[in-house]
Amino acid sequence: MKLPIITERLILRKLTKDDVDNIFLLDSNPDVMKYVGVPPSISKEQSEKMIENILNQYEKNGTGRLAVIEKETNKFIGWSGIKLLTEEVNGFKNIYELGYRFLPEFWGKGYATESAKASLDLGFNQLNADKIYAYADVENQSSNSILTKLGFENKGEFLDNGDNCYWYELEKK
Ligand SMILES: CC(C)(COP(=O)(O)OP(=O)(O)OC[C@H]1O[C@@H](n2cnc3c(N)ncnc32)[C@H](O)[C@@H]1OP(=O)(O)O)[C@@H](O)C(=O)NCCC(=O)NCCS
Repeated sequence: MKLPIITERLILRKLTKDDVDNIFLLDSNPDVMKYVGVPPSISKEQSEKMIENILNQYEKNGTGRLAVIEKETNKFIGWSGIKLLTEEVNGFKNIYELGYRFLPEFWGKGYATESAKASLDLGFNQLNADKIYAYADVENQSSNSILTKLGFENKGEFLDNGDNCYWYELEKK
């Protein structure tokens, strides 16, 4: 990955062990975790573990979620990026998946869309993916609207650990 990625308003860089407090702030927030299929974190150890996993993914898979910084304030606002899904989801495995997660105070500014575009560019042009996948809880209206706006094709519903989700695919143009 050629990093950092600089967009109009954001910087995407690798997560580091120093982001534990940032990740804990994000993942302990019930509003943030409402539709992501896992309960809010209750300890910083969980955030440490998550970062360790992501650092391993950078090493092993050459990709993983990236920290997103708001240029104007230099604040950590969340993460966005392409992950190699190594555990099976909806019958798919070893595919590139787009994801994003932000602190509520930064929602509604188009940051998810802006960072997703940069992540897709990385996926198609640096990782050379033919297809990028994504999924979202059917009730997660903002995420479903972002994926549709980005050109993803909705392939229908599936059950992800008891949650009804839409499965999306986007082919390289
Ligand atoms: C989903 C999430 C990343 C969206 O972030 P965001 O920065 O607010 O997204 P954007 O501003 O780029 O775009 C949101 C879009 O959804 C639309 N939207 C927001 N709430 C909506 C709603 N309730 N119904 C329909 N559309 C909605 C917005 O109008 C916007 O579309 P537009 O650009 O055409 O106006 C953010 O809410 C988040 O981090 N949620 C918690 C984690 C999460 O759910 N991650 C996704 C898992 S699949």
